[in-house]
Amino acid sequence: MTTSTADLWHHYGRARATSDRAVPGTFYWNWGQNGGPGPEVLGELTGRCVGDLGAGTARHAAYLAVHHQPGRVVAIDASPAQHTMATDLYAHLAPRLRIVASDAVSHLQAMTGAYEVLYSVFGALDFTDPREVLPAAAAALKPGGRLVFATLAHYLSGAPAQPDAVAAGIPAKTPDGEATTMRRWVLQEHVWTKLLDEAGFTDITVDVLPATGGPRTADTLLVTAYHPS
Ligand SMILES: C[S@@+](CC[C@H](N)C(=O)[O-])C[C@H]1O[C@@H](n2cnc3c(N)ncnc32)[C@H](O)[C@@H]1O
Repeated sequence: MTTSTADLWHHYGRARATSDRAVPGTFYWNWGQNGGPGPEVLGELTGRCVGDLGAGTARHAAYLAVHHQPGRVVAIDASPAQHTMATDLYAHLAPRLRIVASDAVSHLQAMTGAYEVLYSVFGALDFTDPREVLPAAAAALKPGGRLVFATLAHYLSGAPAQPDAVAAGIPAKTPDGEATTMRRWVLQEHVWTKLLDEAGFTDITVDVLPATGGPRTADTLLVTAYHPS
């Protein structure tokens, strides 16, 4: 029986975690993770407090910890499996990299005004009600702070993104391999803009990063927004 507490991220990235333990040499936002803009979209990072919301195995966060000079990068993930893998791979990058097992919303709510930069690469912002996570992110940013996230521009099936702020059930697997679903917010550009505006963000921009080919590919929305200074 599937319970609501099954870790639906048990399998994600597991094979790679055994064969590729290196800190990545690149940081990309596009779905294919192989081109387009890179970490420069995050702005100045030196000495800054940076949070990755839904960091998975923390590869992006590890990249920033090694190739930039942030004060701290906090890799936040709610999945016990992802936290365990991230810790196994990159705990040695402490204290510049901090790996935290937490729901993004509760972490952000406990960290008022703590971050200069928050980002998500198909992470917590795709899988959490935006009316909860966006206001929490706004509150956790310092004035002038920046939120950047990569999210699907359409469903992987090719179906268009939602014209309203609603989630859809997408296929997932329990740790036992049983088929189930999880909620994913795949929203049109104007829906994200409205939700960010309602959460108090300003200077909102959305770029479309085109799919880069391959069998399972998709266009990406790269969204940037600022906490009012
Ligand atoms: C598709 S994976 C992406 C992981 C990583 N950003 C990457 O690019 O490899 C989505 C991740 O978001 C995490 N996640 C989803 N909702 C979350 C939430 N509310 N709080 C924290 N993590 C969350 C999942 O546990 C999962 O590890």
